[in-house]
Amino acid sequence: MTAKRTVRLRSRVIGCGAYLPETVVTNDELAKRVDTTDEWIRQRTGIGCRHIAAPGEMTSDLGRRAAERALANAGIGADEVDLIVLATSTPDETFPATATKIQARLGITRGMAFDVQAVCAGFIYALAVADNFLKLGQARTALVIGAETFSRILDWTDRQTCVLFGDGAGALVLRAGPSKANGRDRGVLSTHLHADGRYHDALYVDGGPSSTGKVGHLRMEGREVFRHAVVKLAAVVEEALAANHLSGADIDWLVPHQANQRIIDGIARKLGLDDSHVVSTIEHQANTSAASIPLALNEAASDGRLQPGQLVLIEAIGGGLAWGASVIRW
Ligand code: ACO
Repeated sequence: MTAKRTVRLRSRVIGCGAYLPETVVTNDELAKRVDTTDEWIRQRTGIGCRHIAAPGEMTSDLGRRAAERALANAGIGADEVDLIVLATSTPDETFPATATKIQARLGITRGMAFDVQAVCAGFIYALAVADNFLKLGQARTALVIGAETFSRILDWTDRQTCVLFGDGAGALVLRAGPSKANGRDRGVLSTHLHADGRYHDALYVDGGPSSTGKVGHLRMEGREVFRHAVVKLAAVVEEALAANHLSGADIDWLVPHQANQRIIDGIARKLGLDDSHVVSTIEHQANTSAASIPLALNEAASDGRLQPGQLVLIEAIGGGLAWGASVIRW
């Protein structure tokens, strides 16, 4: 009797792209609206400026542009995409999923399209969902997009939160291919997701269709989120390394969620990585929530830092609390 050989599949990254709205708002400009200074914002967060979507420019517009650039970078047509997973907490409308609007704008009429909502950890959640679809053979080519217009949910009179965020979008194209047994092949090697809803009050939006009927504004206990971030991100990066029999020294690039330069530095130190192995975009983009990781991946890939075959560790934490990490061989 001959045993049937099952081919294991892996999701390879075949393209990336990003889009930032044209308008840039500096810390000094914000200091004219709320009681803050460029010095305070830079010292506490590392943020220098942020991009803000134009009136009428929606999450689907940002996401669609990032997706088009990712498809062009992959050298494939939109007709090859059979799965779109959009990570966002700022959808155009309560429903339908903003992913379906992007799908239509790309001219795609087949396959699946839906949103995933895990706030700043959203991109890693979306990546995990798409990776599982591809590994199961339920889709072949996926667009994984992180797109946000957090400027629309900020309380612009609250200096503790309005200085921290920006708008933007980034996207990866994943394609399923046979996995090599030795694990040296390229693609998503593992994903690790966590959530603990007991910490809702640390970071939430005080509105929604089923509670107030209004969109609401972001509310955050910054110090509390910071405390959780340091502990939970350190644990999940260890988990991701251990699952792949790696140590910090094996990682070519740490591409973290961009919430605070001090959190990024803390995790890099924990991994024994110096600045030359860390991608930081926070100075010129601020925190773009689910978009920050694909924006940073795209920046490092476009400027030649991130090379095929290199090992990338991504990590993020956000509202929920929800957090996660993933190891990718680029
Ligand atoms: N300008 C000037 N002063 C300010 C500002 C501001 N923009 N914001 C707060 N302050 C003041 C506070 O009022 C406080 O004054 P006080 O001492 O007189 O009371 C002082 O600065 C210190 O405030 P803290 O909140 O203790 O400052 P901290 O050092 O904790 O920095 C920050 C605040 C930047 C928000 C930090 O806590 C942080 O980055 N937290 C984590 C945020 C995060 O990681 N979010 C991730 C997820 S985001 C998501 O999921 C959507």
